[in-house]
Amino acid sequence: MPELSKKTALFTDSVIRRMTRICNKYGAVNLSQGFPDFPPPEEITRALANVVAVGGPHQYSLTWGAQNFREALADKYLRFTGVRPDPETEIVVTCGSTEAMMTAVLTVVNPGDKVIVFSPFYENYGADTVLSGAEPIYVPLNPPAYRFDPNMLEDAFKQHPKALILCNPSNPAGRVFSREELLQIAFLAEKYDAFVITDEVYEHIIYPPFTHTHFALLPGMKDRTLTCSSLSKTYSVTGWRLGYVIASARVIEAARKVHDFLTVGAPAPLQEAAVAGLRLDDGYYRALQDKYTHMRALFLNGLDGIGLPHNTPEGAYFVMVDISSFGWANDLEFCEALAEKVGVGAVPGSSFFKNSENRYIRFHFAKTDAVLNDALNRLEKIYTLKK
Ligand SMILES: Cc1ncc(COP(=O)(O)O)c(C=O)c1O
Repeated sequence: MPELSKKTALFTDSVIRRMTRICNKYGAVNLSQGFPDFPPPEEITRALANVVAVGGPHQYSLTWGAQNFREALADKYLRFTGVRPDPETEIVVTCGSTEAMMTAVLTVVNPGDKVIVFSPFYENYGADTVLSGAEPIYVPLNPPAYRFDPNMLEDAFKQHPKALILCNPSNPAGRVFSREELLQIAFLAEKYDAFVITDEVYEHIIYPPFTHTHFALLPGMKDRTLTCSSLSKTYSVTGWRLGYVIASARVIEAARKVHDFLTVGAPAPLQEAAVAGLRLDDGYYRALQDKYTHMRALFLNGLDGIGLPHNTPEGAYFVMVDISSFGWANDLEFCEALAEKVGVGAVPGSSFFKNSENRYIRFHFAKTDAVLNDALNRLEKIYTLKK
């Protein structure tokens, strides 16, 4: 038989989604794959029922996104940033941020180009760079503070990458990069003439006093930035697969072509219904922030009570727990044992780091109180895993 693609040998299947299958096998509380277990806002589900009631749309929308969805998105950006992207030329609607990121990388990168990726990183970025024929240059975000060394970042830029991928707020580290850090990145992107591709899916899941900075709004960054984000996390609709890239008209013209041939378009009925979410007032976002602040406190206090050392996320809904005192040589095996014997699912930290790192596991806490309390009760037994 002919050989399979060499590229597919360069990355594994998603460890995160593999952990979900392991959780299902053992009936474990799944705190591995990050998705909420509570419903989306009623305005959205009612709008979806209405789409069904009025008979559609059920066919393809415009490949780069339904007109009213792009208008609503542009209005929402104006409300939060003071700048309105042109819905006709500066937005392409995608199947989640996952497709937005793949589209963005394919739009700016040629085979053989280099792309800077911070490590630890959301595992899709490794596959995105490999699939586009690029070579990642990894720059460490050093735990436990998960900050980068500006000199190491400049060394990476000296290799003349085509782009840098920035996840802010970041998964798994929970960092909300400060304006100063972002300005350092912006300075280097300008100096070495690189694009910045941002993944901002957690832009509304931020814990005060931290606030989100849209990278594209930093001085001089509009034309260099491809802003990727989605509705998955903000409206608790990870299954709807709605995301987008916002960038300059020059970039979006090319991105639309990439997107068209990847997926043709995001689901038309769901775009129609999601407009109701994009038009929710500011109170919705404050309530979302309060809800996550509550979940973070519940879960982190619980971990403290059990005596598990962890970082304190500034944004997103993940926490890294240090398991070095348990004496396991392999964190994947630890997570399998945790799912089987303790009944809680986590993601092995090694799947996020480029260098070999075996000290961390990642939990997510986008769950109702009952589920988080159940997980915390089960975690009382975690010390039975001590070697
Ligand atoms: C950083 C990051 N980007 C993207 C995604 C996926 O987003 P979407 O559902 O919009 O494809 C996730 C999901 O966990 C994520 O953590």
